[in-house]
Amino acid sequence: MCSRRIDKVCCGLLIQGKIQLIITEQQEVHSKHLEQSQWNITAERLGDAKFKRDYGIKYAYIVGGMYKGIASQEIVVAMGRSGFIGYLGTGGLRFNEIESAIRYIQSELKDGQAYGMNLLCHLDQPEIEEQTVDLFLKYGIRYVEAAAYMQITPSLVRYRLTGLRRTNDGIIEIPHSILAKVSRPEVATAFMQPAPEQIVNKLLENGQLSKSEAELGSYIPMSTEICVEADSGGHTDQEVAYALMPVMHRLRDEFMAKYRYTHPIRVGAAGGIGTPEAAAAAFILGADFILTGSINQCTVEAGTSDAVEDILQMINVQNTAYAPAGDMFDLGAKVQVVREGLFFPSRANKLYELYKMYNALDEIDEKTGNKYRKNILGDRLQKYGKKQRPFT
Ligand SMILES: Cc1cc2nc3c(=O)[nH]c(=O)nc-3n(C[C@H](O)[C@H](O)[C@H](O)COP(=O)(O)O)c2cc1C
Repeated sequence: MCSRRIDKVCCGLLIQGKIQLIITEQQEVHSKHLEQSQWNITAERLGDAKFKRDYGIKYAYIVGGMYKGIASQEIVVAMGRSGFIGYLGTGGLRFNEIESAIRYIQSELKDGQAYGMNLLCHLDQPEIEEQTVDLFLKYGIRYVEAAAYMQITPSLVRYRLTGLRRTNDGIIEIPHSILAKVSRPEVATAFMQPAPEQIVNKLLENGQLSKSEAELGSYIPMSTEICVEADSGGHTDQEVAYALMPVMHRLRDEFMAKYRYTHPIRVGAAGGIGTPEAAAAAFILGADFILTGSINQCTVEAGTSDAVEDILQMINVQNTAYAPAGDMFDLGAKVQVVREGLFFPSRANKLYELYKMYNALDEIDEKTGNKYRKNILGDRLQKYGKKQRPFT
């Protein structure tokens, strides 16, 4: 396979059963070049060089945060020591657990070894986000992976703009990087622009940002990186990378031209990457870096049970289904779950259908109600008042 752009040539070669990539400034690739060893590029050469330099990592490869410490402190440390970056799965952890994990990671990694923290949007409970950001600022966390955002929040702006300063040679120093995981162009658009003025002004008024931080914030985008999440093992909009990546690249180019940022916004890929071939495909699509989730659940460092790891080891690509996401149930968000041998996805989807159809449990007709009382909800039904909707 070989594709050309005006100034760059990108080739993926199948050599001895392995896909190898070439991305070069040269105008032409002659077949004789392909036989030369210089074309056998290594994993270190994949992805955006400046991205790797900025993060101080060897590989443009990230382990994404996974809920309740599935992306554990041990994964984060193992990644950091090996020249990658991993994000701690802070979602669902108590603040003292996050704090203790931060301390562990900071004590295990040397200066310059990269690590980051996941930050989940909590529109209905902004105090969770706020206190998490307090912790990140207290411990000098430089890299945050922001997820589940539909809009920019004050906590996110506070994290991004705190500590901004202009050096003597006029460069804006940005101590806090945000990698925004998005699967929709409108959300990417929010992250590719400077922080919303209204939020900045409010933070300024509250004394949570200095005048200079607020002013410098208007020259930088909210996120340093956009990670384009195609259909994944986490929350998923079930998007297709082939369709989504070019759209996001165009958006990035548009906003880079509009705001003339001095720091480039990098665009990476996530979702469905679990093999070297899929990783190669993501780089061919122009990813500056790749990020994986599901595949890391099978590592010894993952903060998950042996039972889950055993199930994951056994399944194949066709053995998954979509189910409603517990934490974003009202929004209709979905997660990808194991289907093979489990009732969970079909039962969860049935309950979600009932939730949409009825206002209260006692509106459900007797036959249907009895079936779900008996087979699914059981004693848990007693917990809900008559007027309450299931699951709320
Ligand atoms: C079990 C599981 C839990 C996840 N939890 C989170 C989370 O709490 N926060 C987050 O930003 N992403 C979460 N993700 C998404 C991953 O960080 C990553 O973006 C995604 O898994 C990449 O797609 P892949 O699973 O196809 O590799 C989770 C993914 C999985 C599989």
